[in-house]
Amino acid sequence: MTRGFSVIFFGVLVWFCERTKAADNPNIFLIVADDLGWNDVGFHGGNQIPTPNIDALAYNGIILNSHYVQSTCTSSRSALFTGKYSFRLGMQGDSIKAAEKRALPEGKLMPQYFKDLGYETHLVGKWHLGASKWNETPAARGFDHHFGFFNEFISYYDYLSTWRYNDKDFTGFDLRRDGEPAFDEVGKYSTDVFTDHAVKTIENNDVNKALFMTIAYNAAHAANEGKPLEAPQETINNFKHIADSNRRTYAAMISKLDDGIGALVEALDKKGMLPNSVIVFISDNGAPTVGLSRNWGSNYPLRGIKDTLFEGGVRGAAFIWSPLLVQSARVSTDLVHITDWLPTLYSAANGDIGAVDPDLDGIDQWSSLVYDLPSPRNDILINIDEKTRNAALRFYNWKLIVGTSQNGTYNEYYGDTVLDNIEEPSYNTSAIYESPAGRAIRKVNYTPLTEPEYEGLRATSTLKCLPPKAKKNPCDPASGAVCLYDIPSDACEENDLAKYFPSVVRRMKRALVDYRQGLVPQADQEIDIENADPKLFKYTWNPWVDCSDSTCPSPNIG
Ligand SMILES: *[C@@H]1O[C@H](CO)[C@@H](O)[C@H](O)[C@H]1NC(C)=O
Ligand SMILES: *[C@@H]1O[C@H](CO)[C@@H](O)[C@H](O)[C@H]1NC(C)=O
Repeated sequence: MTRGFSVIFFGVLVWFCERTKAADNPNIFLIVADDLGWNDVGFHGGNQIPTPNIDALAYNGIILNSHYVQSTCTSSRSALFTGKYSFRLGMQGDSIKAAEKRALPEGKLMPQYFKDLGYETHLVGKWHLGASKWNETPAARGFDHHFGFFNEFISYYDYLSTWRYNDKDFTGFDLRRDGEPAFDEVGKYSTDVFTDHAVKTIENNDVNKALFMTIAYNAAHAANEGKPLEAPQETINNFKHIADSNRRTYAAMISKLDDGIGALVEALDKKGMLPNSVIVFISDNGAPTVGLSRNWGSNYPLRGIKDTLFEGGVRGAAFIWSPLLVQSARVSTDLVHITDWLPTLYSAANGDIGAVDPDLDGIDQWSSLVYDLPSPRNDILINIDEKTRNAALRFYNWKLIVGTSQNGTYNEYYGDTVLDNIEEPSYNTSAIYESPAGRAIRKVNYTPLTEPEYEGLRATSTLKCLPPKAKKNPCDPASGAVCLYDIPSDACEENDLAKYFPSVVRRMKRALVDYRQGLVPQADQEIDIENADPKLFKYTWNPWVDCSDSTCPSPNIG
């Protein structure tokens, strides 16, 4: 009897400690913008699209100005959730198509690590890591809840995704709430819908359970052909200073994204969760200013666009904000790679880093971020694509690029937004201070920044290209050349130093050869539109393998 009682008592004690432990752990919010350009956030120096909420968090946190991502969507999200370079997963190339039987390989993903620590895990928004079978979808890969879509993009009001194959269009609805089509959201603007869902989840959060939430907005990815850009007209009307009507709509899309982030921070404040929260904001890759999935985003002044290995494709706008950061309100140029978030956030969550898969490429940067210590990272393998033979590597200040994507069509400079302006508005620091995020942050117990400090940080994080005199030694790898750049002094990749530093080139080429040993070749793209066709599933995109019609069993996984 006594013994039984002790066991129960001990059990209750363990249960209580576990719960308390989870409650002490910080809430983690990982916000992923889609195809957002370097120059499309205010904190990088652009005046065209005010982003006061994003800027408030960025200035009061740490602006990560050397944050590298993969150059395309599936590749970046693979690296993010696995903590591994995507070329080691076979995910280094093209993104997954709607009717393609390809998915992120098996293995433990970021949300599963958080579940181990007692977190409730949520994915809001985009997945794009495979959905031909239910067991490839977020619910089977560590997310307790998914409210969002499986494919590459959706339209912003009706949640349709049209995929063109052999000159034929295949259209299906792609928005699900825990697996079930969420038709009730049709007609509402997707950025608001994803924000509202995240806000409600915060409001309803059991305070004894820490939250891990990835909010992967579809903004600002182009939607379907014919109507690639969509935003509420009243928001578009705020951008009369932008001459180009597509760019104006894009600006409104970013503005809605900024409002959403403001609402999220406000909700965290109301719930009392803000002092114990970590917010990370990243773009999955650079903007496709021109070309495929064009969204009129701007990577100015960087070279290249999405799907190139120039800085415009792989250096993504990013910051981290948290009251737990002891040394914040700074611009960091230390190397950070998208794979670093898995170990870094696990460490932030008081996870034992020894328990993480030792085979990760990601490096735990948590103490470096918190205390402003030197970064543990000296190099980043940016990508190796064995099909296009395009590869790039950062090694300390150096960047080496060999080969090219898309036959070198997009290796130039695009998206100087100043040209689009009818009248340049001035940067409004009081709007940052008075934004919902700015107000909420001020209530958290630490010294808020002043407006001149905002300006100072902004000047530091704004990249400048070389003066015209120094723009020598042009290099285009499309011609077969190997290009070497000193990125801290030449972020715009205008002065090739390969011929002056042959030993650096040799060393970096050797490093690429070494990395190549770990490459997993890309699988052939197996298109199965006969069976995946949305018309077989009441015009929704539905996992189709092992399912033959709309009576296909509903998911009941996780
Ligand atoms: C690149 O050029 C080759 C040969 O001209 C062509 O077959 C291929 O389709 C091109 N690829 C792209 C992405 O433009
Ligand atoms: C700047 O923002 C503040 C606060 O939102 C606003 O009151 C003010 O009118 C803005 N100034 C300009 C010049 O737009």
